[in-house]
Amino acid sequence: MLVLGIESSCDETAAAVVEDGARILSSVVASQVPTHEKYGGVVPELASREHLRKISPIVDEALRQAAVGLEEIDAFAVTEGPGLIGSLLVGVVYGKALARALGKPLVGVNHLEGHIHAVLLEYKMAQREEPAAETPELPAVTLVVSGGHTSLFFVETRSRNGAPVFSYRPLGQTRDDAAGEAFDKVAKLLALGYPGGPIIDRLAVFGNAHAVEFGRVKMKGNPLDFSFSGLKTAVLYRVRGTELAIEADARRAWRKAAGRVTIDDLRAHCSQATLDLAASFQQAVVTDLIERTLAAAETARVQTILVSGGVACNSLLRRQFAQAGRARALQVFFPSPVLSTDNAAMIAAAGYYKLRAGQRADHHLTAHASFPLGT
Ligand code: KG4
Ligand code: ZN
Repeated sequence: MLVLGIESSCDETAAAVVEDGARILSSVVASQVPTHEKYGGVVPELASREHLRKISPIVDEALRQAAVGLEEIDAFAVTEGPGLIGSLLVGVVYGKALARALGKPLVGVNHLEGHIHAVLLEYKMAQREEPAAETPELPAVTLVVSGGHTSLFFVETRSRNGAPVFSYRPLGQTRDDAAGEAFDKVAKLLALGYPGGPIIDRLAVFGNAHAVEFGRVKMKGNPLDFSFSGLKTAVLYRVRGTELAIEADARRAWRKAAGRVTIDDLRAHCSQATLDLAASFQQAVVTDLIERTLAAAETARVQTILVSGGVACNSLLRRQFAQAGRARALQVFFPSPVLSTDNAAMIAAAGYYKLRAGQRADHHLTAHASFPLGT
C-alpha cells in the first residue's frame, strides 16, 4: 500500500510517500526557519501563508522523488491536529481534495502519534536492511519532546483481523512550556539564534554543564508531568541586570549585522559564563526528561522506551538516555535526526496502520488546534 502523507501542523510543510508503513520512497520537508528566524519564534499567520505557497510543489516533489504518479497512490494520510489551526487547515484541505479527486481513502493522523511512529518506522527500515537488527518491543513508554509538546504515553499494540492496532495512554505532559520551547526561549534571551535547540546543543559542548546547579522541579499531583517555565525564569534571573545581559545585547547587534553565522563565530562571541549557563540549562532539561521517562517506564513496567520529536535530536539527551538505559537493562530507541523533527513520512506510517485497521475519514475531516492522543 502506497500512502502519501501530508504534514503542516507548525512551521514545516512536508509530504512523503511510504510503502506498507515500512519503506520511505520519499520524504520532503520545506522548513520555514528563514521566515520566522527574525521573530525568534513561529508567527502563525506567516506560517499558514507559507504552507499555502509550498504545499502543492512539496507534494509534487515527494511524488517525483518516489518516482510514482498520483494515480498510483493508494491512500492519503494527513495531520489533523494538534497544531496551529491555520497551518493544519492547509494540509487537511489539500489532502481531502486529493483523496476526493482520485476517489482514494483518506485518514486523519494525530501529530503525536506520527512522532511515535517515526521511531517504529526507523527500526522497521533498519530491519529491512539487516533482519537481525534490534527493534522496539511493545508495550513501551514513549516520550514525545518537541517545540510544541512534551508528553509521555504508554503505547501498546494488539492484533485485530491480522492487522496491528495501536493504542496510547497519556501518562504525563508539560503543564507550561514544551522542552523545545524552553530551548528556543533561552536561546532568544541569550541572543544565540533560532531555533535555539540545535544551537545550544552545539555550543554546550564548550561549556561546563555543572557550573550552575538548577534545582529539580517537584510536581504536585502527577509526578510524570513536566514544567519548564521555572527553569526558563531561573535562567532569566541569572542574566537580567548582569554582564551576561550586556553581552547578549552586543551579540544581538552583531548577529543582526553579520547575517548567517557559524557555530565557531558564535562561540567566539560568547563568554565562558554564557557557554556554562547554556550547558547547565541543557543538562537540567535533559536530566528532567530522562528521570521522568525512567520513572514512567518503571511505573508502567516496560522494558522499552521510545523517544521522538525535535528535541530527540539533542546529542546529550541521546547519550545520557543510552547510558541510563544500559544501566537499567532498558532498550531506548530514537529515530534518526531527519525523522525526529517534523516530517510527513511519520504521518504516512501512522496513517498506514489506521487504514489497515479500517479507519477512514470522510468529508467532515477538519483541523483541531487541540487534539489529545489516547484516553
Ligand atoms: O518536532 P519539531 O520539528 O516541531 C514541533 O513539533 O515542535 O521540533 C522542533 C523543536 C524546536 O524547539 C527545536 O529547538 C528543537 O525541536 N530541537 C532541539 C534540537 N533540534 C531541534 N532541541 C534540542 N537539541 C537539539 N539538537
Ligand atoms: Zn512535531
